[in-house]
Amino acid sequence: MKTLKNKAKTQFLALSENESFARIFTAGFVRNLGVTPSLLADIKTVVSEAVTNAIVHGYRGRDAESSLVFLELKYYSDKTLIITVTDRGCGIPDIEEAMQPFFTTDAEGERSGMGLPIMDAFSDSLRLTSSPKGTRVTMKKKLL
Ligand SMILES: Nc1ncnc2c1ncn2[C@@H]1O[C@H](COP(=O)(O)OP(=O)(O)OP(=O)(O)O)[C@@H](O)[C@H]1O
Ligand SMILES: [Mg+2]
Repeated sequence: MKTLKNKAKTQFLALSENESFARIFTAGFVRNLGVTPSLLADIKTVVSEAVTNAIVHGYRGRDAESSLVFLELKYYSDKTLIITVTDRGCGIPDIEEAMQPFFTTDAEGERSGMGLPIMDAFSDSLRLTSSPKGTRVTMKKKLL
């Protein structure tokens, strides 16, 4: 049976500068878990894609002062890392559509619609739940 070995949780305002905070927080958490540089890069990438989505899509057009992003990291005895990013933003109306490569609702043409497909490809499993009250993405990564 797997047991929880470590857990860390943080929350921060939906400001683009907090994307680097989330990456550094995550890097600090996995620091002593013996991950290879390439695994660490994958982990930081998925965290940053999920956090960016919460900031730019979830809280689009909302006041950053009341917009919180939640990041939780859990490490288990079977060497799996569970990453959960939650927002209380607008939600995703059609999850299946959002998961499609190149699907984006970005009107400015700055985004490629590859964040969710990248998170899916770079993690061992991805679960996306959403409602008009917010979105949660949970990713599992084996640190082996
Ligand atoms: N947390 C979220 N809240 C609301 N909508 C979201 C959220 N995450 C994703 N979406 C929706 O899903 C779409 C696809 O997300 P995805 O990350 O794949 O692409 P993108 O963010 O548009 O572009 P990229 O990640 O390549 O910059 C987004 O355009 C947005 O409409
Ligand atoms: Mg994205």
